[in-house]
Order: sequence, then structure tokens, then C-alpha cells
Amino acid sequence: MAKTTSHISRALALGSLAIFVAGCNTDMWRQPRHEPLDASEFFADGAANRPLVPGSIPRGHLREDAPFFTGIQDGHWVDKLPMPVTADLIKRGQDRFRIYCTPCHGQLGDGNGMISKRGFALRRPPGNYHTDRLRKMPVGHFYDVITNGYGAMYSYASRIEPQDRWAVVAYIRALQLSQNATPADADPVELEKSTHPAPAEAASGEGAKSEG
Ligand code: HEC
Repeated sequence: MAKTTSHISRALALGSLAIFVAGCNTDMWRQPRHEPLDASEFFADGAANRPLVPGSIPRGHLREDAPFFTGIQDGHWVDKLPMPVTADLIKRGQDRFRIYCTPCHGQLGDGNGMISKRGFALRRPPGNYHTDRLRKMPVGHFYDVITNGYGAMYSYASRIEPQDRWAVVAYIRALQLSQNATPADADPVELEKSTHPAPAEAASGEGAKSEG
């Protein structure tokens, strides 16, 4: 029994010696290197980190599609949204508009947001979207205002992604239509229903309720 134990311990001792000897070769684990943001005497600017090559673009950030990213094509504001206008897009625009724009421009986009109502000092009153000038403005202009700001209004580019900026623009168009519609713009069937409710509906009061 005692003999076996001494065999085992001798084997163990030999084994660890072998590992120790192999570990003495330091070539692989003494590799000079810099940690991120280290100082360096090698480069003129004293920093180990190298600046990006001018014009580098992170993967997935090549903004080739100028109309989509700038709202401008061939030096003119685009007058069509660069994506299909769907109910989902307008809903998303409404959601973003209510967060970012209503404080100044109000729920209707008439410039009567809480900030202007409460007299918060803006250098200029927030724009009212329901003017002839802005109704005729190409959609690219609204995109540009959100992206780069306009006069006293700051840019929202850091808070609203390009896709969402277009959604907001689609919603602004919807607001403009809503505040400047004539009976001719309404669906003839719906219009007929609201002006001449069917007797049953009129009696139950349903017609009047669904009108708003
Ligand atoms: C902090 C207040 C404030 C917020 C929030 C704000 N705006 Fe404005 N906006 C202004 C002011 C002020 C002006 C008028 C700037 C001027 O005439 O110098 C303006 C003007 C505008 C105009 C009119 C530009 C023109 O051609 O006359 C548009 C369009 C507009 N804003 C869109 C937006 C949208 C979209 C949002 C939300 C993403 C937004 N604004 C959020 C203050 C704001």
C-alpha cells in the first residue's frame, strides 16, 4: 500500500516538473501589446488607438440612397415619400409626432402646443402646418426640417431615425388633409351616411355618435 502511494507521488512530481519546464519558454506569453486607450510613445499623437481612416463607413451604414436619407434628389426636395404610404406608417408617424413634435406644434400641428400656450420663450413661434405655403411644400422639406432643424427649431436627427422621420412626414400630410378637407374629399358612401343617416341609426343615435 505504502509502495503504491510513493509510486503515484513520484509520477505526480515528475509530471509537474515537465509542465514547469515547458512553462519556462516565455516566447508565447510575453507579447507586447496595448490595451484600448493606452498611451503610446510610438505614434506622434501619443495615443495607441489609431483614428479611423477618413471616409470609413461602419458596416450597414452606407447611405447611398440620397432621397431616403436627405429628402433631396438632384438638388430638389423630393415630392413623394420614398416608401409606400401604409396605415402602419402613418400610425407610427402619429406615435413619434405625439412624442417629439406636439409639445410645440400641438396635436393638430397648428403651432398651439403646450410650450407655446404656456409662454415658454421660443425665439419664434412654432410653425403652423396649415398654411398654403406648407400645404404646397414637397415632403422632402418636412424631412429636411426634422433632419437639420429650421430657423429657431433644433434638429431631431439624433432622436428620430430616417425611417421614422418619413413616418412623421406622412402623418403631417394626414394632419394637413384633416384640417383642409372638403365634402368632396370624403368617401361618397360615408358622406351620404353621415348627412342622411338611415332611419334606424338616426333613431338609436348611432349616426350622430359615429360622426366624430
Ligand atoms: C421645442 C419646440 C419645437 C419642437 C418640439 C418641434 N418644433 Fe418644429 N418648429 C419650432 C419652431 C420655433 C419653428 C419655427 C422656426 C422658425 O421660423 O425660425 C418650427 C417650425 C417647423 C416647421 C415649419 C418649417 C417652415 O418651412 O416654415 C415644420 C415643418 C416643423 N417645425 C416640423 C416639426 C416636426 C416634424 C417636429 C417633431 C419631429 C417639430 N417640428 C418639433 C419648434 C419646435
